[in-house]
Amino acid sequence: MIQIPKRQPVQPLLNQDDQQWIHESIEKIIHKMAWLSDKSADKIPFTTVNGVHDDKRTVASPRDSDGLQWWTNGFWAGMLWLLYHETNDEKYARIARRTEEWLDQCFMNFYGLNHDVGFMWLPSAVADYRLTGNLTSRSRGLHAATLLAGRFNPVGRFIRAWNTGRLAYDTRGWAIIDCMFNLPLLYWASEETGDPSYRHIATRHADTVANHFIRADGSSEHIVKFDPDTGEKLQTLRGQGYAEGSAWTRGQSWALYGFMMSYMHTGKPEYLDTAKRVADYFIDHIPESGLIPIDFQQPAEPDYEDSSAAAIAACGLIELAQHVGDDERSTYLQPALRLLKTLSRERCDFSDRNDHFLERCSGSYHEKHHHYSLIYADYYFLEALFKLKGNDLFLW
Ligand code: GLY
Repeated sequence: MIQIPKRQPVQPLLNQDDQQWIHESIEKIIHKMAWLSDKSADKIPFTTVNGVHDDKRTVASPRDSDGLQWWTNGFWAGMLWLLYHETNDEKYARIARRTEEWLDQCFMNFYGLNHDVGFMWLPSAVADYRLTGNLTSRSRGLHAATLLAGRFNPVGRFIRAWNTGRLAYDTRGWAIIDCMFNLPLLYWASEETGDPSYRHIATRHADTVANHFIRADGSSEHIVKFDPDTGEKLQTLRGQGYAEGSAWTRGQSWALYGFMMSYMHTGKPEYLDTAKRVADYFIDHIPESGLIPIDFQQPAEPDYEDSSAAAIAACGLIELAQHVGDDERSTYLQPALRLLKTLSRERCDFSDRNDHFLERCSGSYHEKHHHYSLIYADYYFLEALFKLKGNDLFLW
């Protein structure tokens, strides 16, 4: 029998200044989203180019996970649903639904979809269903969940990450830390249908990650390669971080918040313990500046940053603060506030000059370009502020 843990509100821990800052930030978000939603209503943005949202609605070739199949394509809808929940303004629902309808085409391109279907359909279709009861949206969510369940390797007890396609590797045995964030789609499908199979797949994958990805010091691998026939662990791979064995910060954030969500959906105390270990490592490594590097083990120069890692970690830390005892709540809440206030003061554009909120995000350490905006950084920044206000639409 699953006991869903209760969230303790963090608002009583916030002082007058914090509350004022949250109130003002949300006012600025509402103001910016009011015009931005109209301006980008015909797009699925991923980043900004010269301050203007790009558009991922290009149909990529079969077997390619770019274009309309790109893993971030649910986040713009997610931002709009957050605003719908906050303001009750129907225009946000109308614009968010466009993404959901465009994404239907992806179901016709099987090899374009991978483990990231949770990122794509939870903040879009499942959000719609949760908020409005739209049954077509429910159906979209269940199709996506069933695709994700089909990627489970029962011998290795992991969900396969990318497809072998554009990547010139045999990825049949690859699992990645990011996938912790797709598990809520499976928990939702079990809760929705009453079929526990989806949840069993999610918990088996989470157990594999706890055993094979999370190191003794609380840091996490990005990629683990298993033998897809025997399930034997073969190798760990660098992925998007600085080096093999280092600590890619967005990966640490996916692990932190991901284990929190597995705890929230199952009540299994070992997931809460794992989330705390990962959080403790993250908190111990926050630099003096409060700005998060791409990798906690990267050299001091170049001083590459990733604001997205900070925003995702802040969300996970706020959830953690809501699920630990009174004596530990500040341990997790205070670093979350510090990360968000630093982002807000130094890396956020609330103005109407640019379509993004957060700046200086990075996809990976070794890519050619760094420091641009990312739609999911904006999404998690907004989510964190609504959590602090106590009006969070929990999409996961
Ligand atoms: N899920 C891919 C990334 O975090 O870049």
